[in-house]
Amino acid sequence: MRLTTYSSLLLLLTTSLLSHSLAQKPHASPITAAATSAYDALQSHGLPIGLLPCGITSFTVNASTARFEATLDSPCTAKFENDVVHYNRSISGTLSYGEIASLSGVSAQELFLWFPVLGIKVDLSSSRLVYFDVGVVYKMLPLSLFEWPPLCTPDSSPSMSTF
Ligand SMILES: *[C@@H]1O[C@H](CO)[C@@H](O)[C@H](O)[C@H]1NC(C)=O
Ligand SMILES: *[C@@H]1O[C@H](CO)[C@@H](O)[C@H](O)[C@H]1NC(C)=O
Repeated sequence: MRLTTYSSLLLLLTTSLLSHSLAQKPHASPITAAATSAYDALQSHGLPIGLLPCGITSFTVNASTARFEATLDSPCTAKFENDVVHYNRSISGTLSYGEIASLSGVSAQELFLWFPVLGIKVDLSSSRLVYFDVGVVYKMLPLSLFEWPPLCTPDSSPSMSTF
């Protein structure tokens, strides 16, 4: 497989989309039972498994409220082309078809600032976009970027989160 560098910018509210997938392949770490149940829960709601990163150590979903809680082995940062997304160690949200609402634990970088991602919506129509609700705007990303759980770089300075 060739390694290709795309320099194209994925801009906010842009309509020019890449038609070619840059989806990352799963890496070598073993897929835990927790990760499997997380990916099952996402898929049964029409959501791509790449919305949650690698490294899931526990996952629960309340059958009546569809509220899920995922725990990662470490808080981490993943890159989707030109967009950077941070995952806290603990991530929760409410699943419905094509959507995660009341999300917490995920933030996205926009103009060098971090914004909490409040919800995620997936458009499975021909546009095949993923919308990250960052409060003021929706960030749009191609669905193809979420085909696989992204590699996620653990935060380098855990001492920053001391209380
Ligand atoms: C699911 O959520 C409901 C409402 O918050 C709660 O009463 C119930 O105990 C939860 N079930 C589990 C298994 O946690
Ligand atoms: C992530 O965790 C930090 C520290 O606990 C917290 O301040 C922040 O609000 C969390 N981010 C999100 C998006 O929930």
